Amino acid sequence: MTRLKTLAALLLLVVSATAEDAAEEGVPYAARRERLRARIESGLALVPGAPAAEPFRQDNDFWYLTGLEWPGVVLALTEDGAWLFTPDGTEPAPPGFDGVLAMDMLDVTLGRYAADGLWLPGGRSEFYSTWNRPGERREFGDPFGPSKRRLEWISESRKRVEGEKVRALEPKLTELRQVKDRSEIECLRRACRVTGESLVEAIRSVKPGMKEREFQDGLERGYLERGARWLAFPSIVGSGRNGTMVHYTENSAEFDRNELVVVDTGAEIGMYAADITRTFPVNGKFTQRQREVYEAVLAAQDAAIAALKPGVTLGEVDAIARQVLKDRGFTQRMPHLTSHWVGLQVHDVGDYAARLKPGMVVTVEPGIYLEDEEIGVRIEDVLVVTGDGAESLTSWIPRGADEIERLTGADLK
Ligand code: GLY
Ligand code: MN
Ligand code: MN
Repeated sequence: MTRLKTLAALLLLVVSATAEDAAEEGVPYAARRERLRARIESGLALVPGAPAAEPFRQDNDFWYLTGLEWPGVVLALTEDGAWLFTPDGTEPAPPGFDGVLAMDMLDVTLGRYAADGLWLPGGRSEFYSTWNRPGERREFGDPFGPSKRRLEWISESRKRVEGEKVRALEPKLTELRQVKDRSEIECLRRACRVTGESLVEAIRSVKPGMKEREFQDGLERGYLERGARWLAFPSIVGSGRNGTMVHYTENSAEFDRNELVVVDTGAEIGMYAADITRTFPVNGKFTQRQREVYEAVLAAQDAAIAALKPGVTLGEVDAIARQVLKDRGFTQRMPHLTSHWVGLQVHDVGDYAARLKPGMVVTVEPGIYLEDEEIGVRIEDVLVVTGDGAESLTSWIPRGADEIERLTGADLK
């Protein structure tokens, strides 16, 4: 009996410890709303969710602040609390919210609070990361409807109050979103895991004569099998000369056995984007020249990664990578920056002049593009800035030239 009691007490302990851990590990949506509210001091902040659509993906800002999948909802933050405006206003308020109101009550709320300022976000929150599904064909940077509708909603809302009372919420939201919390880093880690595993599997399956599209289909099947609903952006699979085009998404050519292939890809998991690039030789063996180019990009990437730490800017990191390429004799233009922010979207919001802080997440992706020689090389990894450097979320994916050769199965082809 006593032993049973002890066991029961132990079990209880385990259960309560688990519940506490779960609360601790939970996503701090309410804390994010509080922090945003503290930044806007007074007035009313409105953040529109994505409109109802099939398939539906929530707006990034709205998701960041609520974690709600509800379509067609507006979040309102005032000094009195957090409210949700839904089409008919009948849903019970989720935990942490002060109420749910019908959309046609929004004007009353505007009348009551907007005299002290109406804070509205910009139109770009959903840029890139939405509406690309595994297996579907899209161009990188397609214009898409939902963001346009968000802009229309914002301009309609502006008309409801006098111009001078409208304030920009975007910089405040960007400041928050630029530094990722633990739950976000976990989502990014998972997105990188799913992307990396699928990429490794796809590279192992490469054969000369395979089509870029076939490779893409296999890769994206891997994402679906691992639970991704969305791509972070359309997959780039460029062989030979196509690998010298930075945002090549046609993916229509056949792999030639002597070519390099650049694959730049990311699954989206839990709303967060991965963005990984690997370059490999189709026949599993770099030529001397291909290896020379590859090693230069790798050295540039290593130098840039070593420079990542709090206080540094992405401009400084970029200059370091470019200098390495130049020192190795590659003086042509690299037509993109070495790094960008990553988060709820692949090119995440963030101030490019900011000094790095722990919790910021960036890519490091130098490249060399030699059109005349039909050699394109880019290597891209995702890193989280830590207290004294950076942690790579993708360093486990083969990256060195020998490792890449082993991955493609040099001795089998
Ligand atoms: N995949 C696009 C980029 O690397 O920026
Ligand atoms: Mn990138
Ligand atoms: Mn990329």
